[in-house]
Amino acid sequence: MTQAPRKIAFIGAGNMTQSIVGGMVSNGYPGHAIHVSNPSAAKLEQLQARWQVQTSHDNAEVANVAEVIVLAVKPQLMAEVCQDLQARVPHLQDKTIVTIAAGIRLEKYADYLGDSARVVRVMPNTPSLVGQGMSGLLANAHVSSADRDFITSIFQQVGDTMWLTDEDQLDIFTAIAGSGPAYFFEFMAGLQQAAVTLGFDAAEARRMVEQTALGAATMAIDSELELSELRQQVTSKGGSTAKAIEVYQQSQLEQISAEAVLAAVRRNQEMAKLF
Ligand SMILES: NC(=O)c1ccc[n+]([C@@H]2O[C@H](COP(=O)([O-])OP(=O)(O)OC[C@H]3O[C@@H](n4cnc5c(N)ncnc54)[C@H](OP(=O)(O)O)[C@@H]3O)[C@@H](O)[C@H]2O)c1
Repeated sequence: MTQAPRKIAFIGAGNMTQSIVGGMVSNGYPGHAIHVSNPSAAKLEQLQARWQVQTSHDNAEVANVAEVIVLAVKPQLMAEVCQDLQARVPHLQDKTIVTIAAGIRLEKYADYLGDSARVVRVMPNTPSLVGQGMSGLLANAHVSSADRDFITSIFQQVGDTMWLTDEDQLDIFTAIAGSGPAYFFEFMAGLQQAAVTLGFDAAEARRMVEQTALGAATMAIDSELELSELRQQVTSKGGSTAKAIEVYQQSQLEQISAEAVLAAVRRNQEMAKLF
């Protein structure tokens, strides 16, 4: 006999919930096992119509029926949302809480939900919205390995997942994968501008850059070679690529990346103190 699907509740029906729920149902997870709550109606109606999920305006109602609760509200609302669940959901300690809010450390959820709460912190990034995310996951000591596997399977619906060992690692992960799309967009915009300066129109320049970025990322994913080796393979000695790489190296691109990531890590550490 096949096991019944685990009931999962999403608190907040914003962009991230829409992507994850869409990924889950389109990959076979039954909509009727997914419960979503949100204050306003339009997003719930859309989710209900598209994926046949169950919806409510009451967070406690959806949390009550679920074994796993995904908190997908803005960080500044998290304390209030958790305290309301803590007050109105019996047996909350027996449920697994997944939070995707940036900047709030696991220990804070012990304040919000009690010391024995089972909490997993997940840091998805924006490409999760198009199914190409990179999510970092961190669990507290109360989370079982079966729950870890289930939560991995949820976030695999919107990209790749990586389990981390502590908050320090999560701060670094956030500086690379969370902020990373912005670094790539910045670099891509620079290349687009260079092509425009040399006579291409903006749309043509963008197409060249986008497809080249996608191609390079796909080659990196498909290859066992180190990234530096892949770079060398497209850099013949004395050729034009070598000239461009020489300019990047003179400008110490690697050093600049190290400094940029460190600045983001420090900022993540500072922001964690705000909650
Ligand atoms: N988007 C990303 O790429 C990304 C990446 C990493 C982490 N995150 C984190 O993921 C969380 C959700 O992000 P998002 O992009 O999905 O945000 P979003 O689109 O703004 O969605 C937040 C949702 O929460 C709802 N909400 C507000 N108050 C609520 C309450 N008291 N109870 C239940 N729901 C409530 C809002 O409803 P109304 O619109 O009706 O007010 C809205 O639908 C945030 O903490 C964010 O930091 C997002």
